[in-house]
Amino acid sequence: QTIYLSEYKVPAYLVDHVDLRFELFEDGARVHSTLSVRRNPESAEAGAPLFLHGDSLKLESVALNGSVLAAGDFEDRGDALIVPSVPEQFELQVVTWIEPQNNTRLEGLYKSSGMFCTQCEAEGFRCITFYPDRPDVMARFRTRIEADKGAYPVLLSNGNSVAQGELENGRHFVTWEDPFPKPAYLFALVAGDLVEKKNTFTTCSGRNIDLRMYVEPRNAQKCDFAMDALKRSMRWDEDVYGREYDLDIFMIVAVDDFNMGAMENKGLNIFNSSCVLASQDTATDATFQRIEAIVAHEYFHNWSGNRVTCRDWFQLSLKEGFTVFRDSQFSADMGSPTVKRIEDVTLLRTAQFAEDAGPMAHPVRPASYMEISNFYTLTIYEKGAEVVRMIHNLLGDELFRKGSDLYFERHDGQAVTTDDFVKAMEDASGRDLSQFRLWYEQAGTPVVSVEDDYDADKGVYGLTIRQNIPDTPGQTGKKPQHIPFAMGLLDSKGQPLPLNISAGEQDGPLERVLELTEAEHRFEFHGLAERPVPSLLRDFSAPVRVQYPWSREQLLFLMSHDPDGFNRWDAGQRLAVDVIQSLVGTPEQAEVEPRLADAYRKLLNDASLDQALVAKMLLLPSEAYLVELAEQADVPAIHAARERVLKHLAQELKDDLLACYQRNREQGDYQLGPDAIARRSLCNTALGWLMSIDDERARELALEQFRSADNMTDRLGALRALVNSGFAADREQALESFYQRFSDDPQVVELWFSVQASSGQAGQLPHILQLLEHPAFDWKNPNKVRSVVGVFAGQNLAAFHNPDGSGYQFLAGQVCRLDDSNPQIASRLVTPLTRWRKFAPAYSSQMKAALEGIRDKDNLSRDLYEVVHKSLAG
Ligand code: ARG
Ligand code: ZN
Repeated sequence: QTIYLSEYKVPAYLVDHVDLRFELFEDGARVHSTLSVRRNPESAEAGAPLFLHGDSLKLESVALNGSVLAAGDFEDRGDALIVPSVPEQFELQVVTWIEPQNNTRLEGLYKSSGMFCTQCEAEGFRCITFYPDRPDVMARFRTRIEADKGAYPVLLSNGNSVAQGELENGRHFVTWEDPFPKPAYLFALVAGDLVEKKNTFTTCSGRNIDLRMYVEPRNAQKCDFAMDALKRSMRWDEDVYGREYDLDIFMIVAVDDFNMGAMENKGLNIFNSSCVLASQDTATDATFQRIEAIVAHEYFHNWSGNRVTCRDWFQLSLKEGFTVFRDSQFSADMGSPTVKRIEDVTLLRTAQFAEDAGPMAHPVRPASYMEISNFYTLTIYEKGAEVVRMIHNLLGDELFRKGSDLYFERHDGQAVTTDDFVKAMEDASGRDLSQFRLWYEQAGTPVVSVEDDYDADKGVYGLTIRQNIPDTPGQTGKKPQHIPFAMGLLDSKGQPLPLNISAGEQDGPLERVLELTEAEHRFEFHGLAERPVPSLLRDFSAPVRVQYPWSREQLLFLMSHDPDGFNRWDAGQRLAVDVIQSLVGTPEQAEVEPRLADAYRKLLNDASLDQALVAKMLLLPSEAYLVELAEQADVPAIHAARERVLKHLAQELKDDLLACYQRNREQGDYQLGPDAIARRSLCNTALGWLMSIDDERARELALEQFRSADNMTDRLGALRALVNSGFAADREQALESFYQRFSDDPQVVELWFSVQASSGQAGQLPHILQLLEHPAFDWKNPNKVRSVVGVFAGQNLAAFHNPDGSGYQFLAGQVCRLDDSNPQIASRLVTPLTRWRKFAPAYSSQMKAALEGIRDKDNLSRDLYEVVHKSLAG
């Protein structure tokens, strides 16, 4: 059953108000719902039956305007409750019984380590009660929760608490009222024995907001960072977007079992514990940064998502793309913009490009889907954010802000489309974005190929730029898109040249954004005394693949001279990619490009460089990225080539790496600023490289760092280096002592699992099977599944792509097993297999066979069905 955007119809009935009463028990929950419904005047379907979605509900009773309906007056279809004949306006009362304690899908109301919690986006509310569960039905909610007071002293829902009291049998209740109309996907409920962390925030207009975090008692010491990040986010959204918070209270709850990262429920954000809890002792620098970004992301949704929401799920990127763009701007402002850009582009080019080239490729605004949960993708989120970023770049800061103000003002309280968003940007700026809209409609990563020529006599340098958008499933013969292409030119000393685009021009700008709108363009630059070196797609100004025949000479030059920090990094990546690719399949003794080590030596020893950028530049392109770039990937060969380069660099740069380590090793108190983070990153990279060649001095340093670290970044860095080295006895000891120390902290145990599952040395399949038997492993906890199975298949490529096919069979088996308990997780976990066409024949045929095995399983969920069938099609 495919759902099409083209078949969108406005809802036949609207809900003005929802009154909910939850009776929570150990063996289930009774949900009383009273809906105030009226016919939608905009709907053409006069006299249509009332249609309410439902999923896994036991219906106890239905009443219309107070009279209980007889069995013949409604139809309980299982996935829907249909009342054929209803008046223009009425109250409908529905009572359902659900079993949160047996809910392993983690959609709707479920239990996680003893507490009740919810996840309703996208279509989880229908697992709680019968309801028109679509985002364009917006209602005011009032929610009364009743539960045992001893076991569930804290009872939370959206909005403000308006009443509370005692009930018989040791039970109590709290009533919440949310004054803002909202779609059901933003509903939330939490009941548990939680500690409360309090703080306050004064908004720009002087209102005092109560900030609350609710966590299990053992996590009470891990809230401060997220609380501060929340306050920074609130201030930033006021300063940069003029968005003030609207309720009197804002709450965050941490839960251990959660399918995704976090959820922006109105006034009551629910987080996966791993995306919110942190302390110096248990969280790495990367975790802290992730938490800051996710806290900001969910908070920003209050405007981009909640106040203005999506008309239907095809518009998901309306809120997600915009909000990811907003959180990336925020992170850039909180730290280093260049580093943040490098991180975002790395994810985009490695994973989103792969998605866009695979069987599940879809536009930022999809035209159809079977299961919406499958569309919480890198394309909707990250490419969607890139699309908004391009609008920002085309309009500039000021007009973009004008457009965003207009968007929020015009659509406050509405459920709208990506087209409405673009329209607001157009109306505020006066720019024509009609061709730009193709970014929302056409899937696939545009390929932009650049050719250059130089006429020494005339002093003219020419760029011929062509774009081509590859076919994707169901989409061929695409139109050229509107691509902002930022560039500059450098002279042979590395100085930026003025970009004069006509013969008369003298002092042209040093950087231009060329706007590509045709399949082919030619640009000429005048007054150039020598052939320049081009710096292309600066700051990654559009989500495209650039092709240009860079020489290694040019890349080395750009690495040290490009004024654009992102392009410096990118030149280094391209050089490393080129060197590694040229070694794939060559004999062991083939020479590694000597200039690569020279370039890295310069990076290591130049203290005048931004150390945060250096730390990024020293990271070799990942295997996943190399696979993405390959035509018919032979993973073991790619792995071997990359390892050879790594070991070569470690060998050549031994002394420089040791010196870098000594210089940057932290003295004094632990800091979480950008400088300290860069220093830790440099040390851990240096350590990792040296340990890859089993350097004895590095071994001493790693053991010492492991023993004495006062923070998780350094402790885990040392552990990782030991685990990936050939020092097997040290590895065993370190893993054991790490586990002993942190066995009661689930977040750290997840790190411990993932260090092993990702290790080429330690993470072979037999060891993975042992990890699955470990007492700390839990099939019902998505984080544990991801940290072992997900990390193995997604990050330990050489082990997963074992030529004997064992990795594929293993993954297929786990996916089938998980599909019965948690289809969303199964459907995500299968991703590596869906890329089977990308690999050399010996591998792809076995991957395909594994997928066919999944296809033939009994009771395939809709989630997995869609992904597996689309991957095998065509
Ligand atoms: N809206 C959430 C966020 O991006 C994601 C929740 C999606 N959940 C799901 N089960 N598909 O902030
Ligand atoms: Zn989001």
